[in-house]
Amino acid sequence: MARKFFVGGNWKNNGTLASISEIVNNLNAATIPSTDVVEVVVAPVAVHIPFVLSHIRPDIFVSSQNVWVKGSGAFTGEISAEILLDLGLKWTITGHSERRALLGETSEFVADKTLYAISKGLNVIACIGETLEERNSGNTLNVVTAQTQALADKFSIEDWSKVVIAYEPVWAIGTGVVATPEQAQEVHNALRLWFAEKVSPEVAAAIRIIYGGSVTAANATTLATQADIDGFLVGGASLKPEFVDIINSATAKVPAA
Ligand code: PGA
Repeated sequence: MARKFFVGGNWKNNGTLASISEIVNNLNAATIPSTDVVEVVVAPVAVHIPFVLSHIRPDIFVSSQNVWVKGSGAFTGEISAEILLDLGLKWTITGHSERRALLGETSEFVADKTLYAISKGLNVIACIGETLEERNSGNTLNVVTAQTQALADKFSIEDWSKVVIAYEPVWAIGTGVVATPEQAQEVHNALRLWFAEKVSPEVAAAIRIIYGGSVTAANATTLATQADIDGFLVGGASLKPEFVDIINSATAKVPAA
């Protein structure tokens, strides 16, 4: 079964009500493929979620950028899966490198919050990726498989059906230095082989592994045609009209009639 293309827009800590209205209006007016071809998810700042949920077209889903590791309660500043689900959300991001690096989230903590979110019914975009230092020392695959193993340590086979893996090399995030299609494909393919060996051939075949890091309209189509790239997690360009072109790169995956 073909994996459905997935495009996420990670708006990070950006936006005003005026600027996100413009983004939403632009997406609402855009011609994009149907949800049979591409699954589109946008992740606004948490306080903007209700606004985006109530204004965005129904074929674009809304995600949180983060979720708490446990249920609701005395955890100041956090947002539980229960609260996100109550708002009507279906998705959250976990493990973004900015949170790993700046807030000290470990792979174990990311796995715990991912599992909790799944157990409550959310789908999760779980992020992994190596730093430039790790790449230059030849450790890319060690790093990304260790980050994925931390999930595997806690997951049942069924849990993987609720997860999209976002491979985001840290050196490519927000830098304008996109991974080449060959660099990205090499890691995506290695991850898929890792899934086949360590989890199951079925999960390896079905799981979507999306690429993130300086994706733009100019590079999306070439990346999309790589066999093991199943979509994108887009930061900076998801705030711009070119996000529509990135969504439309999904058609590059569809065999010509
Ligand atoms: P970028 O960010 O597209 O701005 O590089 C990607 C991400 O962090 O998800």
